[in-house]
Amino acid sequence: MSDEEALRLRAYRREVDRRRFLVGATLVRFGLATLLDARPEELPISRTCDSCGAPHGKPRHTESRWQFSVSHAGDYVVAAFSQRGSVGIDIEPLGERPELVAFAGETLTPRERRSVERACDPLPSLLTYWTRKEAVLKCLGVGLAAEPSALEVSPPDQAPRVLKWHDTLRPGTPIVMRELDFLPGHVGCVAIATSRSIQLEVIYGSRQLGTSFSALSATG
Ligand SMILES: CC(C)(COP(=O)(O)OP(=O)(O)OC[C@H]1O[C@@H](n2cnc3c(N)ncnc32)[C@H](O)[C@@H]1OP(=O)(O)O)[C@@H](O)C(=O)NCCC(=O)NCCS
Ligand SMILES: [Zn+2]
Repeated sequence: MSDEEALRLRAYRREVDRRRFLVGATLVRFGLATLLDARPEELPISRTCDSCGAPHGKPRHTESRWQFSVSHAGDYVVAAFSQRGSVGIDIEPLGERPELVAFAGETLTPRERRSVERACDPLPSLLTYWTRKEAVLKCLGVGLAAEPSALEVSPPDQAPRVLKWHDTLRPGTPIVMRELDFLPGHVGCVAIATSRSIQLEVIYGSRQLGTSFSALSATG
């Protein structure tokens, strides 16, 4: 583990989050090592935040074109890797989370909110919107420093795509998105900044430490 990773690990207060972080950091190192045919412990991975210099920014490998993103929530830890452009991945567990529905007002655009309100079961609808938006915000490297309502995404019954950008967020490259529909009890999305179409390939997945993890690689 690098010094930055050790600092990040210590910043997580709950044991479950420390375990998720460790699985995610390991998954990134093993995924990159597989793709680069390198040794996982030797890969220089930086987490320096562009805004303040603390080690809590979007992680990146400083010596190759491979970009990646990690998400850990519920029972899963996932990482996505891409050579095509910046990537963001986000997953959320379904299940009883009524507190989230109240939260929708702050994160959705008026059209998205109406669609969640009309849904027979609002929670999967809300979480689908949420993971689509967060995948894009993680792809852009801003995360929740940007307002999730600053982009409007397609409704859950349609393939994921960005429908509208607020002027403060509009990126220079198109964003291609894919639904992650293979994680039982979870919804998820991956977003890649590229003008080409992409294919996702699972490079490995396993169940260890009571947590399932998967690594995806995007080619096109
Ligand atoms: C990125 C973010 C949206 C993830 O939130 P989350 O849903 O709780 O967690 P997820 O499991 O989906 O993703 C966490 C991972 O995102 C990655 N990440 C952190 N910051 C990121 C960013 N700015 N962009 C993209 N990915 C980021 C990290 O790999 C992190 O996991 P790790 O540190 O354990 O490796 C949220 O942490 C965030 O918005 N961070 C940035 C906030 C910010 O900019 N603050 C200003 C600091 S000065
Ligand atoms: Zn910061």
